Order: sequence, then structure tokens, then C-alpha cells
Amino acid sequence: MISTGQALLSEIEAFLAESGVTATKFGLAAVNDGHLVGNLRKGASVTLKTADRVRGYIERARSRAPAGAVSRETPATRRVLLIIGGGIAAYKCLDLIRRLRERGIAVRAVMTRAAKEFVTPLSVGALSNDRVFTELFDLDDEREIGHIRLSREASLIVVAPATADLLAKMAGGHADDLASCVLTATDKPVLVAPAMNPRMWLNPATRRNVAQLQADGIHFVGPNVGEMAERGEAGPGRLAEVPELVEAIEGLLGSRSVNVPSPRRIEDAPSARWGGRSLAGRHVLVTSGPTHEPIDPVRYIANRSSGKQGAAIAAEAHALGARVTLVSGPTSIPDPPGVTVVHVESARDMLQAVRDALPADIAVFAAAVADWRVAGQATEKIKKGGKAAPRLELVENPDILKTIAAERPGRRPPLVIGFAAETQNVLEYADRKRKAKGADWIVANDVSPGTGIMGGDRNSVHIVTAQGVESWPELDKTEVARRLVALAAARLADIAAAT
Ligand code: CTP
Repeated sequence: MISTGQALLSEIEAFLAESGVTATKFGLAAVNDGHLVGNLRKGASVTLKTADRVRGYIERARSRAPAGAVSRETPATRRVLLIIGGGIAAYKCLDLIRRLRERGIAVRAVMTRAAKEFVTPLSVGALSNDRVFTELFDLDDEREIGHIRLSREASLIVVAPATADLLAKMAGGHADDLASCVLTATDKPVLVAPAMNPRMWLNPATRRNVAQLQADGIHFVGPNVGEMAERGEAGPGRLAEVPELVEAIEGLLGSRSVNVPSPRRIEDAPSARWGGRSLAGRHVLVTSGPTHEPIDPVRYIANRSSGKQGAAIAAEAHALGARVTLVSGPTSIPDPPGVTVVHVESARDMLQAVRDALPADIAVFAAAVADWRVAGQATEKIKKGGKAAPRLELVENPDILKTIAAERPGRRPPLVIGFAAETQNVLEYADRKRKAKGADWIVANDVSPGTGIMGGDRNSVHIVTAQGVESWPELDKTEVARRLVALAAARLADIAAAT
């Protein structure tokens, strides 16, 4: 257990770091003992009375600090209690605290014991400009500011990184340390940002815990799909990026622009509770990536699609318990774990693989299929040979989405979702595409060169259905996948209930 002396020292160190005061001057100013900090650093103990006087001094000094420093005056509606879990991604919390405070959001931190292995309370305290709470049974803390008060004084509790262990504790209602006590005692909204190895995220116990927490009304942001700290590991499990965390936090604090649907609003829609309904026993088919249309044995026509959005959708459907077939054109990203991946080259190969994979309950056509292929592909490499440049004659490729959407009832997937990559009149063209191709939904995005969407990590989409359009803010492709798959799972459940 951390002693009062150690706890006080970490608060003083944070104060020294933020105020630029020297240890000697601090001692004299606070308790008329120029050796106080030096002695504490050597492990000396301190009476509660002295600790009180020192804290009172820090409090008064902070309240005199120039604008932009502390946000003690921040209205109660903009206070976050950040619970930092013990994961390698904990370092991102330092930047998160900074970004939140830039926006006038006060941050107070609780660190688990394991979190202190990754970041120090000193750094966290210096950035949050507040005490950092670590121990449940610190007499001093419990007397002055117990776990109930920690929760009461916050408007939102954020758990980041939320480890598999923290999620399990939350789902099971454990309360054996300060973090889990606060989480069990709170009546405030809770946002968790999971971060763990993909195998841990996909582990059945973690899946159960996540489903339970979602059913309990806990909000989630991330995890993202990507490379892990461990070499060669990739998949869902990366902590959401700081801008995504900030966006989710601001959404829950109610400060977002009114015409942008916030995660909260979508989640609140009864038919669209994220991940609230499982895809266990369902088959989800996803096309992804570009296609390569051969010119001759060494050359081909391609496009800039990275396959990230389709892979994220496949991973998310798997995470909700579906059997997933991902038919992917050539990409450089790893196959999502747990998903059956069929690698293809051309549009015609992709159509055949999709046909072979039917029947499916949901089909998502995220591939950027080449519209044309070269007529009469050369069987040998075309040589320059001093002749004029060859003329390539193009013929139209089969439209995979349109073909599958037109399948007979029973073979047509009950929910067919296409994408629309547009550079102008996005909503109008997307709705035309939805009708022309017979899709139930179109996920429309603007792929103009300036957007960075083609090949990038983020996406800004509109869900176009026969009932209307729902526009989402710019999100990481993983978050788009999470929302889309959850909406699709809810829609599938509605379809099943109606038949
Ligand atoms: N699609 C498909 N097969 C094709 C072309 C497109 O399955 N041969 C699917 C895509 O996977 C996407 C949707 O159709 O889900 C729309 O793709 P997009 O490239 O936006 O539209 P196109 O049909 O190619 O029309 P255009 O290029 O004229 O916008």
C-alpha cells in the first residue's frame, strides 16, 4: 500500500513539474521546511497534519495559477474521471489528458496498480493538474475524497486502456481496488476504450463480458484493428486513437455539433444498439480490396483500395460471433484472425468466390471492383519491339453486388449492403446506385483526392436506405465497421422477427 508520504510526494512532484518551483522553495513556502521534499524523496514519513497543510498550499497556489492552467472552475458537466488500466497503450492517456484539458475538460485520474508499471502518477498528475488516486485503502484519500466522491464529482467516467481484466471485473461487479470500486459505485455514464491482444479481445470470455457491459449500458470506443506491440501480431485490439477518444468523450459530455449524429444518439436508437445483438449462427459475406485486371502476364489495371474497411467489417462480424467469409482482392494488410479469407485477383474471380460462398445472412460489398477489364488478355508479355504503343480495348466487368442482389429469394442474402465511392453529389448518386443495383443499404463515401479516404485509416460515411439517410461523423474505419455491423445485426434480427 502506498504511504501518505509517498502519495504526498507524488502530488508535490506533479506540482513542481507544472509550476517550475524548486524543491527547496516549495518546502519553505508550504510548511517552512526547506528539506521537506528531499526528506520525502529519501522515504521519510509525514504526519496527516503536515500533509493537509501542504495540500492546502498546493490548492491555493493552483487557484491563483494563470488561465489555461487548472480547470477547477470547469463546470461540473465537463469533468472526466479517467481510470487508467495497466496496458502498453497507457502512455496514450498522457496525450489524451492534454487534449481534453485543451478543450476545457477537467481530468482527474485513477490508476490501477498495473497502470503504474507503464506510466507514472507523476506524469499523469502533472498533466491533469490534479491529484492522482491509486489506492483504495489509503486512509488519507478515503477520509478526504473517497471513491463515492470521485464518482460524484465527475460527469463521465472513462476507462482507457480497458484491459481484458478490467472488463471482466466490471462485467462481474468486482470491487477489490479503487478503480473497480469507483466503477461499481458510480451512477455516471461510463465509456470504455479496450486495448489488448487480438486473441484476448476475441476470447469467448471477453466476448461475453463485452456483451454484458453493452447490455448494462456501458459505452465503447474501439478497439481498432491494426498492428500490436508484439511483433507479427495484428487484429482488433489497438486502443482507439486519441482524437477518437476525445470525440467519443465530447459526444457523451454533450458538446458535439447538433447535426452530426453522435455515438450516443445512434446507440440510443432501439434498433441500433451497438453490438447489442449477436451474430452467432449467422454467415456474413464481405468483399474487400481492389481487383487486378490483367493486361498480360506481368501487367494489370488496379485501383487505390487498401482493403482496410472490408477487413474491419469482417473482423467486427466475427467479433459478434458470425461465421465470416471475406473475399478479398490483392492487399498488403494481414488477414483478420478467425475469418475465412478467399484471396482473388480479378472481378470475375471475385464473383465466382462470392457465388461459392452463398448462402449468407448479410452480404457487404466493400470491394472497389474494377469496372472494366482488358478484352483479349495477352497470354505472353506484350513487347515494345519498336512498334506503336498497344491500344487496350476494355470490356465491362460483371457487377457483383447487382448480380447477388438479383438472386432468387432464398439465395439472395436477406440484407445486401453496397458501398458507393463518389467524388460529387454523394447522396444523390448513392441513392441512385442503391436502387439501380437492388441493394438494401448503400454506405456512401466521398473519395475525392483531398479526403484521404481511399487507402487511409478514416472514413466519413452516410448510410443510405429506403427510409432515409444517416450521416456519421468522420471515424476510424474500425469504428465505422463496428457501427455498421451492429446496425446490420439489429436489422437482421428485425427481419427474422418479421418472417
Ligand atoms: N461493385 C461490384 N461489382 C462491380 C462494381 C461495383 O460489386 N463490378 C460494388 C462495389 O463493391 C460497391 C458498389 O458496387 O459496393 C458500388 O461501387 P462503385 O465503384 O461506387 O460504383 P460503380 O458501380 O463502379 O459505379 P461508378 O463507378 O459509375 O460510380
